[in-house]
Amino acid sequence: MKSSAKLLGFGIFSRELVYISSVVILILSSVESSSFNDNFDISWGTVTMLNNGQTAQLTMDKASGSGFQSKKEYLFGIVSMRIKLVSGNSAGTVTSYYMSSDASSHDELDYEFLGNLPGKPYTLQTNVFANGVGNREQRIRLWFDPTAGFHNYSILWNHKQIVFWVDSIPIRVFKNNEEAAGIPYPNRRPMKILSTLWNGDSWATDGGRVKVDWDIAPFVASYQSFQVDACSVSSGSSLPCANNWWDQPEFQSLNQYQLRRIHWVRKHYMTYDYCHDTSGRFSAAPAECAFNP
Ligand SMILES: *[C@@H]1O[C@H](CO)[C@@H](O)[C@H](O)[C@H]1NC(C)=O
Repeated sequence: MKSSAKLLGFGIFSRELVYISSVVILILSSVESSSFNDNFDISWGTVTMLNNGQTAQLTMDKASGSGFQSKKEYLFGIVSMRIKLVSGNSAGTVTSYYMSSDASSHDELDYEFLGNLPGKPYTLQTNVFANGVGNREQRIRLWFDPTAGFHNYSILWNHKQIVFWVDSIPIRVFKNNEEAAGIPYPNRRPMKILSTLWNGDSWATDGGRVKVDWDIAPFVASYQSFQVDACSVSSGSSLPCANNWWDQPEFQSLNQYQLRRIHWVRKHYMTYDYCHDTSGRFSAAPAECAFNP
């Protein structure tokens, strides 16, 4: 593993397993010694560790939400986390899992899980910020109950595209059309990996009409199997971070199978796409919409 691969919990890179199965035992032994605290700092609130630090739980009560952030910054790579969302009545809660750079005109790649009343589905909102500009919300429902077990949410970020995945199904692509069409693309600023659980009841559930029920606090979201195979950049340095495996042709665009999957998601589960917002929010569809699958 030439790039800085860090494993937590039961995460195993299938690539490594396929290509270097003879050293699996070595990889697994390093997995066991790695804990959440090796990779992340608590940024605020109460974060509880379970299973020898292999599982982390964000909590939210009336006094505070909570969050963690990676110790390192990364420029391109693939980042995965298995998350189990707040169960029961999660209305008003927002569990965000995202990558973000520090600087003022920042870049950001977001998963935001918007809680809901019991029996009503979560909404997964994604967004992409480039040079400080976001406004690229898409929303989907999930095809499973995200509170019943852990599911794998991962981001592939390379020089050609950013792909958001849910259990290895692509749900969103943002292509690099910076040179072709002058559309800003996150490719200069290293990002940290962050997560927060917070009160978003002014907007998150039914447009802000449904509020957090504090009688049932604390709310808990759980995390495990963090995996990162990415170009790790120490603050201030600007490596090109080029020619890694995630830049190879097979990762530069979706294949036919992946295209079928993303169309399935969009057809059956998408509830909002900024590219098709006819409410007058945009006078015309933003330029990158022409390049979406
Ligand atoms: C999560 O999904 C990513 C992208 O498909 C994959 O590379 C990774 O191995 C998966 N991790 C787990 C623990 O399933």
